[in-house]
Amino acid sequence: MGEPSELYLTAREEKALNGENGEAVAASYRVLLSIGEYLGADRLIPVISAHISGVNYANIGDEGLDFLHRFSDDGRVSVRTTLNPCGIELENPKSLNPPASFIAKQLKIVEYYKKLGVAPTMTCVPYEFDNAPRRGSHVAWAESSACLYANSMMGLKTNKESAISALASAITGKTPNAGMHLDRNRRPGIVVDVEAPLESPTDFGLLGIFAGKLTSKPIGITGVGRITKSEGKALGAGIGTSGSSPMFIILDHAPRGVETVPFTKAELQNVKDENSAKSMPQVVLLGCPFYTLEEVGELSRKMETKKFRVPALLHISRSVYERAEKKGYISKLNEAGARVLKDVCPSLTPEGTWGGWKSVATDSPKGSFYMKSALKYDVNVMGLDDLLV
Ligand code: F3S
Repeated sequence: MGEPSELYLTAREEKALNGENGEAVAASYRVLLSIGEYLGADRLIPVISAHISGVNYANIGDEGLDFLHRFSDDGRVSVRTTLNPCGIELENPKSLNPPASFIAKQLKIVEYYKKLGVAPTMTCVPYEFDNAPRRGSHVAWAESSACLYANSMMGLKTNKESAISALASAITGKTPNAGMHLDRNRRPGIVVDVEAPLESPTDFGLLGIFAGKLTSKPIGITGVGRITKSEGKALGAGIGTSGSSPMFIILDHAPRGVETVPFTKAELQNVKDENSAKSMPQVVLLGCPFYTLEEVGELSRKMETKKFRVPALLHISRSVYERAEKKGYISKLNEAGARVLKDVCPSLTPEGTWGGWKSVATDSPKGSFYMKSALKYDVNVMGLDDLLV
């Protein structure tokens, strides 16, 4: 964070701030101005895409619904803008048995976003088919796991936006020139040297939970070699859950003068233990963040010879579903007893209240955190292979 400062606005931005282009635009500039001054930004810079959270009615409630109702009256996004998952399957709203009032309110929220011009992608992996700008682009993304992935794996430049600031950037096409938009801030504040053997994306998620607590600056990671998309997704999701760091950087060696913290086998075990419940899971919940197409394919291949011990629900985006269906993955998963859901966040939607379960297993440390804190489930975190027999 920089020193609070005067932020320069162009004449056109001043006029927009004063209401020339309507109240939604003016309110968006007010939001960006106050965040920008707090962060020490000298000006606003253009973004070419936005990604918005604050969609699930279970999260934003009636206040969020009312706000969007008013805001969508005269607002309109000016750049490619995608939307996080919600609390129902949009094309099959009763599939998880939510109350009728929940369905009605959730549908309204999505309708207001559509009115604003937001693409109803309902995904927390927007980079998978829906919103993938070229490397080096400035963007304004909410959803911490997507931000971490964007900065760390895609070479995009985004701060960890809130639902409101991402929406303000979507409307104006601007963001404060501060934080991760400045190259000088994209250097590691600490390095985690991984000594523990990491055997699955779940282990990378646990490393993320450990590392995220150490600093609010970018985190250097050594000792892991090249990492896969799945591992990077899980690592970013873990870091984004336990702290406010906006980025990780995979390094061969720690830069001189930067503090290095080891991540040993014992530490991995500790984080695992903190994420294990004693109870027997009634359901397996997968897809926090949503599975990519490659991950869906890998799961469907595993299930040719294995099965889940208990019923399993896999959560993915409509874009991934469409492609997975064409490749035959969805039918294979259904035949093997796994149910595949579109649009729905498993970690903040009270699927258990509606479905009659309380004790779950998941492969996601991020999911575990929210399932415990927001949904009060008993949660066991296990690698995918340990969930199959
Ligand atoms: Fe996605 Fe919900 Fe997890 S939005 S990252 S599935 S908490």
